[in-house]
Amino acid sequence: MASNTIAMSRTMVATSKISTSKAAKNALRCAPMRSTRAMHSPRLAARVPTVAVMSPDRADTKTFTQAPKLAPKELEPTILKQTIEDLEKELDMGVSVKALRRFNDMLENITEDVWEVRMWRVWNEFAHNLETFNPVFTACMLKVQCTIGQSDYVRRDECLRNMIQPVAGEYGMHNDEPMGKTHRKLFSEWYTSCTGESLEGLMAAGVRPVHSEQLFACMMRDITTGGGNVDGVEQATYALGYNLAVEYMAAYEKTWLLESFIKIDNNFLKAQGREQEWMFLEVHATGEPEHADLGHNAAAAFVPASQKHILRAAMQAHDRDFAVFYNALCDMIECTA
Ligand SMILES: [Fe+2]
Ligand SMILES: [Fe+2]
Repeated sequence: MASNTIAMSRTMVATSKISTSKAAKNALRCAPMRSTRAMHSPRLAARVPTVAVMSPDRADTKTFTQAPKLAPKELEPTILKQTIEDLEKELDMGVSVKALRRFNDMLENITEDVWEVRMWRVWNEFAHNLETFNPVFTACMLKVQCTIGQSDYVRRDECLRNMIQPVAGEYGMHNDEPMGKTHRKLFSEWYTSCTGESLEGLMAAGVRPVHSEQLFACMMRDITTGGGNVDGVEQATYALGYNLAVEYMAAYEKTWLLESFIKIDNNFLKAQGREQEWMFLEVHATGEPEHADLGHNAAAAFVPASQKHILRAAMQAHDRDFAVFYNALCDMIECTA
């Protein structure tokens, strides 16, 4: 039985090798013919770079337009890791770091009498904001993936291998480790340990997290339009710059948040008999610098050296919009919003 299975699988492998090799030969034979025909036939030329997307109730009226495949040319060197890290240092002086510091200063000094009433809207914003970064990361990856035919296969592959790791971590998957809890689950446990309430109860209140929604809209607008760039590789570079800024700011955000909640714990949570579930804060405080480094590797593998200005534009866009979000949270704690 076992030997049959092995024999069968060997046959299948052999068959697939033959068919792959035939397909490759056919593709090589057909490629020049196809392009020659396409050049002389506008109808065929228009059809070559598109794929019909069929839905059950609508016929072939929609197409997904792919970027045209570019002729192979000498590859431009990619941006240096040091250049990326220098760009990030500009964020140290940016508006988001100021807003994050302002927020954490307030949090460290919040008193027990106003804690519950002022924080519940912040928790509500946090719960939404936490999850919005998952589609943001996915959108960044998609921009890189869609440069098929325009970017180098090896560079694209290495870039995406780095980008996907923080996304997998959000869902509890880490290299060489058993499946863990999702970050959403860790957040839920942390919230309950601090407040004595369930996250489901907070969600059921149905209060719109308007500031997080606004930030989410800004992030997705900027990434999905590639910052207004037209070229596919430039759009992907923009997405990689955005990814860098998100991870870099997250390292500040979560490190300071952990410090603030240690103070709150000592100020009154412990005395209330609450035992904080630290895992959410700890995995982020230690994980975000690692994510930032994966972001460096991703950008250094893909971004042409001449596109530094596009990385910077993306980073500054996130700095601007993230600061607006955190200043709005400050206003909630101050009770001015
Ligand atoms: Fe996370
Ligand atoms: Fe991260």
